[in-house]
This record gives sequence, structure tokens and C-alpha cells, in this order.
Amino acid sequence: MATTALAPLLAAAGAAGRAAVLDGGLGQLLADESPGLAAPDGLWAAGVAVRSPAAVRAAHRRFLDAGADIITTATYQASAEGYIAAGLAPDERGAEALLAAALAIAVDARADFAAAGAGRRPLVAASLGSIGATLGNCSEYTGRYGHGVAAADIRAFHLRRFRMLARCLEQPRLRGQIDLVAVETIPSLAEAAAVVSALDELHRSGARLPPAWVSLTAAAEDRVPTGEPVEDVVRVAAGSPHVCAVGVNCVPLGIAAGLLARVRRATALPVVCCPNGQAWAGSAGGWRDEAARTPPGAFAAAEWVAGGAAVVGGCCRAGPEHIGALARAVRGAG
Ligand SMILES: *[C@@H]1O[C@H](CO)[C@@H](O)[C@H](O)[C@H]1NC(C)=O
Repeated sequence: MATTALAPLLAAAGAAGRAAVLDGGLGQLLADESPGLAAPDGLWAAGVAVRSPAAVRAAHRRFLDAGADIITTATYQASAEGYIAAGLAPDERGAEALLAAALAIAVDARADFAAAGAGRRPLVAASLGSIGATLGNCSEYTGRYGHGVAAADIRAFHLRRFRMLARCLEQPRLRGQIDLVAVETIPSLAEAAAVVSALDELHRSGARLPPAWVSLTAAAEDRVPTGEPVEDVVRVAAGSPHVCAVGVNCVPLGIAAGLLARVRRATALPVVCCPNGQAWAGSAGGWRDEAARTPPGAFAAAEWVAGGAAVVGGCCRAGPEHIGALARAVRGAG
């Protein structure tokens, strides 16, 4: 692993000398266990965080108890645009308050966990999805945002949200509490470039964020959804001093190892691997088809770690059982 800002953070969390365990799919866990909570505002866990923070806190705690070294906040679908469109915030200031509150839920869940005598301090990563994740039409899985969304719009979206996050992290209750930023489900070269450019611009302006990782999505092991080679997107994503790792998330389990190999070849940065806990079978069965769910033991921690993953976790339908299996494997307990 190259020396980056990630290594000392993982060491501080008690994960020195082994792969770190990330959590699984928070939104899907909430939707599976409390179907009424994920109301149709398109914000998934970010909406639940507003309406039912206790449910989100309990879900974070389940991943911590399962052995996660890093939990991700219920903010994947959060944006000023999204909160305002859902009628949850009147304006940018209101959206900022909701974002801060959602971040604080994970911080509080970690504090609960530590108070219960865990003897370790897991990391909290602020999750931010691609712009497609906030458009609510699954375009994050095609990367084709249409003519209405130009490259400059994608960059402006990320910069606005990074700024909002940086302002949140200046609040006393959040200062020093968020360890990482996880930019997830990036489907294209253009969006990877926009993210990196927005991050660099943010830091040039004097604002500060914790180190970020950039995670790509893919449906094939050599290409992102737009058809561009994975290696090209990784090189762009890794091209900022503010990026501490590159990864893949929301990918089918069967291509995870092949993707990892390609990511490794394209960067010396640490690699994050978070496949789905179920194959997406179209909207008919949706995610509800228990028979199609991947058994936790099939989450191949050893194979991913051998393939160079520094952080292993899960995405949609990867629940606490999957994370528990990863945690036992990386800690050498079967
Ligand atoms: C998703 O929404 C964006 C913005 O409204 C639009 O440009 C794009 O074409 C849509 N994509 C799909 C797949 O519907």
C-alpha cells in the first residue's frame, strides 16, 4: 500500500497490519427492516435520517457490532438540491442543518459503541453519492446524465456539496469527528474528473475536508457504465493529493476480484472493495428476493485482500451478517 493519509487513520482505528472492514448497505438495511421508513422522497437513508434518526443510529450500531472499522453516514443521497426538492429543507442553510444532523447520527452511534466498552474507535466516513444518485432515476448506473446535465454542472454540484460538508464539519459537535469522505458510485471518467477538480478547488479556496476516497461503479470488470476503461477512470480519480484511496462499490460480486485487479494496476493508492450482497434481477423481484441474496460466507474477504484490497465492505443488500463474515476473516477468526 502506498503511504497515504488513509494508513494512519486505519492504524488509529485498530486496523494496522490488516485490511479494514467497512460497513454494508445502510439504505437497503433500513428499507428491508422498516419498509415504511424509506418513504418515496428519493433520499433513502438520508430521508430516514431526517424522519427517524433513531432507526439510522441503530443500523449504524449493528454494523459496528458486526465488526466494522469504518461506518458511512446516511448522506449518500443528501444534497441541497435533494433536500429542497423533497420539501425537507426550505433552502441551503436548512439543507446544511439536515446534513450536519445526519453526520452526527453516525458520530453518536460510534460514541454509544465506545461507551459500551468496545475498546476501539471506528472511523466515520461521510458518504456522498454521484450526481446520478441524487437525480433519482438510476442514471448513476449508466453515467448518462443527458444533455440537461453538462460536465460543468457535475463539477458545480460536487463543489457545492463539498462546501456544504466543510461548513458542517466546522460545527463544534462535528469538529474532528468525521475521519473520511467516501465519494461513491462514480460511473464515468467525466464525473471522476469533476470530483477531483471540485476537491482541489475546495482546498485551494482554503476550506478543508478530511481525506476522500473515490469509488467507481461498474457492471463489467474492465469498464465503467459509460464504457470507459476502469484503469483510465482510476488514474483520474487518483490524481488529486486530497484522494487517499480509490475503490469500487455497488458492483456485482462476481466481478469484484477482476475489477480489483484492474484498479490495483492503475494506482498505488489503497483500494476499497464493496460489492453488492445480491445480484440485481430487475425491478420485478427487486431487492426483496431472499433466495437471490448472496450468503455472507461468499463475501470473499481473503480473495479481495490477496488481490490488494485495503478496505473491504459491502453495498446494497450486504447486511450486518456479510460485514460480520468479513470482520472474522480479516481478524483471522475464521
Ligand atoms: C435522469 O435525470 C437527468 C436530469 O433530469 C436527465 O438529464 C437524464 O436524462 C435522466 N436519465 C434517465 C436515465 O432517465
